[in-house]
Amino acid sequence: MQYRLSNFTALLLVLAYPWLLKLFYLGNINQISVTVGYLAFALVLATPVLGIIFAVKQRYQFSSSADQRRSFALLMISTIPSVFCLIGIILYMFNLNSFELPLYYTVVALALIWIKTANTIPAPAKYYSPKLRVAHGITSLLLLVFIGFHLVNHLGANLGGDAHISLMDGFRKYYRHPLVEVLLVGLFSVQLITGWILARTFISQSSDGYRTLQVATGLILMVFISTHIIAVIGLARFYLEIDPNWDWLVYSPGLLKDGWNVRLISHYFVGVIALILHLGLGLRIVLINHGKERLAKILLGLTFITAIVIAIAIMRPLLLAS
Ligand code: HEM
Repeated sequence: MQYRLSNFTALLLVLAYPWLLKLFYLGNINQISVTVGYLAFALVLATPVLGIIFAVKQRYQFSSSADQRRSFALLMISTIPSVFCLIGIILYMFNLNSFELPLYYTVVALALIWIKTANTIPAPAKYYSPKLRVAHGITSLLLLVFIGFHLVNHLGANLGGDAHISLMDGFRKYYRHPLVEVLLVGLFSVQLITGWILARTFISQSSDGYRTLQVATGLILMVFISTHIIAVIGLARFYLEIDPNWDWLVYSPGLLKDGWNVRLISHYFVGVIALILHLGLGLRIVLINHGKERLAKILLGLTFITAIVIAIAIMRPLLLAS
């Protein structure tokens, strides 16, 4: 089988993911060499990136339905930073933290069994229609209003925690209005459902690198946003009854020096990058459909740079607060 080495590498990274995070944490608290910790974190970030790179390579053409399923599994590897957070948050709320690793490896085992035994992924998804893409695009424009303010809020933390808190207090006057909040969560739910129907359709077909990256970033966002809303509304506001503001985001000992919180670093970083790439790739399709190929190419380059720069700028104050 042609991709044996890359698939084996991807599997190794998935199996090692929780332990790589642990090594990074131990390095941050000087229990082991910091260099080993940083190398482990480089592999943590390599897990979603290599999952996408291997999927791009394998999705140009399927030679069997097993290839189709394997390439979908590679795409799902890109969601691991958020999946590991989701597992942790849900088990925490049920006071079942000790089942974290057994549950994580059960999910991995079930995915491997599915690759081996399932049937071909039928095309297209039952509810797919080209109009759904337009609806998905329009909802994203509405959500961009909140997302724009939300990212500015987190960039504001570069001016200090107080700046983050006062920005959030200002923006909350709008999005915390009960009607607006219901609408916001409702729109995100519509986006996740239409997004899944689109992804499910494109997953069943072979695709070029752009489409594969679009589907991968969509899947990352699906798990990221679900996990994030469960964390800030479910866990913080209802379960713990605390205010999910800056103090909660960086409570001592912070993201770097807490054995649980360290997983949030890759979750947030990959989530923000996936968001900006997903939006940029969506705009690229619109430009190409309007015959603006050259502009589309320039935009894609700018999208990659913007995604990395904004993600680093948002993570900087979160990490410095540790
Ligand atoms: C590093 C990145 C991010 C951090 C640190 C972060 C942090 C937070 C915090 C602290 C809240 C609670 C706000 C409040 O209670 O008023 C929140 C809410 C929320 N965030 Fe984020 N966020 C990030 C990225 C994102 C992204 C990329 C999205 C969407 C694509 C997103 C969507 C939401 C939504 C929908 C809410 C719920 C708003 C509400 O209270 O109704 N977040 N986030």
